[in-house]
Amino acid sequence: MHSQPTSKLITKAVIPAAGMGTRFLPATKAMPKEMLPVVDKPAIQYVVEEAASAGLTEIMMVTGRNKRALEDHFDRATELETMLEEKGNLELLATVRESTKLAHMHYGRQASPRGLGDAVLTASAFVGDEPFAVLLGDDLIDSRNPILPRMIEVHQKFGGTVLALMEVEPDKISSYGAAAVESIGSESNFEDVVRVTGLVEKPSKESAPSNYAVLGRYLLTADIFKILQSTKPGRSNEIQLTDAIAELTNREDHGGPVHGVVFNGLRYDTGDKLGYLQATIRLASERNDLGPELRKWLKEFVKGLPN
Ligand code: G1P
Repeated sequence: MHSQPTSKLITKAVIPAAGMGTRFLPATKAMPKEMLPVVDKPAIQYVVEEAASAGLTEIMMVTGRNKRALEDHFDRATELETMLEEKGNLELLATVRESTKLAHMHYGRQASPRGLGDAVLTASAFVGDEPFAVLLGDDLIDSRNPILPRMIEVHQKFGGTVLALMEVEPDKISSYGAAAVESIGSESNFEDVVRVTGLVEKPSKESAPSNYAVLGRYLLTADIFKILQSTKPGRSNEIQLTDAIAELTNREDHGGPVHGVVFNGLRYDTGDKLGYLQATIRLASERNDLGPELRKWLKEFVKGLPN
């Protein structure tokens, strides 16, 4: 039996945020990495905004230790709001309230960092039997070229699981899950879609099945939970979501088939220091308030740089 195309409304998203943030120490010693600001908003708020704009307004964040700041950020801050109100600073008041209005937030805790697959498994009761999205906080997708709406369309057309793929330089593939892909033929309006026939977590350049990297956006069905329950620790001795999805690639129902949408838009890796700096500079330089001054300064600054 083939997976049935579905028009079920997708409203749930899971955002794993239990990582240790070791790449940003000491900044992340007492603060979750997801709270690092990209210009003036915590990185995680961009991700919640992205989910909410795609209609995913029931969001479960899977947190770990040190994550109270995350919950506080998406909650009301009554004292601060009253103070801003009294001072008549309504513009700032609106920005403070913005994060509380995006979605219904739910929180779960991953007892110990056992991997992305384990974090997703924590969300099984929240998800129930519905298709849902997983968004990884380290990947920031520019809001001008969203990918989730396209992934939802692809899920509605083909059923099953949908991944976001991005072509990377061969030297970079070992930082990602890599997909073996094949063409789906000439399906009109789906030229950006491939069938995923295999997946490997962080392969060496030599053993990678292709240069298609898995981006941190997944559209999954509840079938994944059963597989995750028996997925053995893989790369880095962690339960890998990639390994669980690999099990679905040869299925035609119960979570399969697996398709990939090839993403060509702007994406920043804010889990990496360089990507984080690039995102901050780029987004700030495009802002109306900061952009003009920053661009002027950047041009002068670049001129003075040694080759
Ligand atoms: C995770 C996934 C990997 C994926 C990547 C995308 O790795 O395990 O398959 O390609 O996110 O950002 P991480 O970067 O968390 O190590």
